[in-house]
Amino acid sequence: MGTLQGKTAVITGGNSGIGYASAAKLKAQGAEVIITGRSPERVQNAADELGVKGIVADVTDLAAIDALVEQVKADYGTVDILFVNAGVFLPAPIGQVSEEVYNQTMDINFKGAVFTTEKFLPILKDGAAVIHLSSVLAYTGMPNSSIYAASKAAMNSYVRTASTELAPRGIRVNAINPGPISTPIYNKTGMDEDSLHGFAQAIQQRVPLKRFGEPGDIAHLVAFLASDEAAFITGSEYNIDGGVNVNPLLS
Ligand SMILES: NC(=O)c1ccc[n+]([C@@H]2O[C@H](COP(=O)([O-])OP(=O)(O)OC[C@H]3O[C@@H](n4cnc5c(N)ncnc54)[C@H](OP(=O)(O)O)[C@@H]3O)[C@@H](O)[C@H]2O)c1
Repeated sequence: MGTLQGKTAVITGGNSGIGYASAAKLKAQGAEVIITGRSPERVQNAADELGVKGIVADVTDLAAIDALVEQVKADYGTVDILFVNAGVFLPAPIGQVSEEVYNQTMDINFKGAVFTTEKFLPILKDGAAVIHLSSVLAYTGMPNSSIYAASKAAMNSYVRTASTELAPRGIRVNAINPGPISTPIYNKTGMDEDSLHGFAQAIQQRVPLKRFGEPGDIAHLVAFLASDEAAFITGSEYNIDGGVNVNPLLS
C-alpha cells in the first residue's frame, strides 16, 4: 500500500514536465490524481497516458478556477494534496521587459498560484498539504530572469504567510525551489535552438552535479511533502538544484 493511499491530489499544469512526473509519482503512491492545464488536447492526452482525471482550467481565469473547484468538489468532495505547479518562463533583459511578458508571467506564476490556493481552501481537508513550485531563481540574479524571479520570490513570500494563517487548520504549506530541470518549459521561451543549446551548456557547467535535474527528481520531494511523513513541515522551502545555489566561488 502506497503512502498516499486514500488521498486526493490536484496538480495544476499536470500535462507536462514536473507536474506530469509528479502526477505519475503520486498515483504510484496510491493517490487519486486530478491534473489541470490550459489546452484540452494536451490535458486529455496526458490524463489518458497517466490514467488520471484531467480537467481544463487556465489559472489566469478566476472563473475557470471556480469551475475546477466545483467539479472537484462534486466528483471527489475534498482535497488532501494541492500541488500549485503551473508556470511559465519568459526571459527578457531589463530594458526590454514588455507589458505582455510582465502580465503573462505575474498572472500565471503569481496571481494564478495565489488564487488556486485561495479558491481551493474551502474544499481542502484540515491537515491537507499545499505545495508551491517556486525556483532557485527567486534568490539569484540570473540575467534575463527579472520578472520570472520576482514572480517566484512573491510566491515564496505568500507561502510563508499562508503557512502561519493556515496552521490552525493543520494545513501545511511549503515551497520547492528547483534549479534547472529538463522539461519542455525551455522550448516555450521563444529562444532559437542555438541559444537554447548555449544556455543549457552554460547552466550545466554552473551546477556542481554537472547535469540538469529530471522531473522525477522533483516528484520524489513532492510525494514526500504531500505525505504524512512530512507532518511537522510547514512554511519551509526546499532547494533541489544539484547544488547550484551554493555558489562555490572556485570550481
Ligand atoms: N524546468 C525548470 O528548470 C524549472 C525550474 C524551476 C522552477 N520551475 C517551475 O516548475 C513549474 C513546472 O514547469 P515545468 O518545467 O514542468 O514546465 P512545463 O513542462 O512547461 O510545464 C508547465 C505546465 O504548466 C502549464 N501552464 C502554463 N500556463 C498555464 C495556465 N495559464 N493555466 C494552467 N496551466 C498552465 C503548462 O501547460 P501548457 O502545456 O499549456 O504550456 C504545463 O502543463 C513551473 O512553475 C516552473 O516555473 C521549472
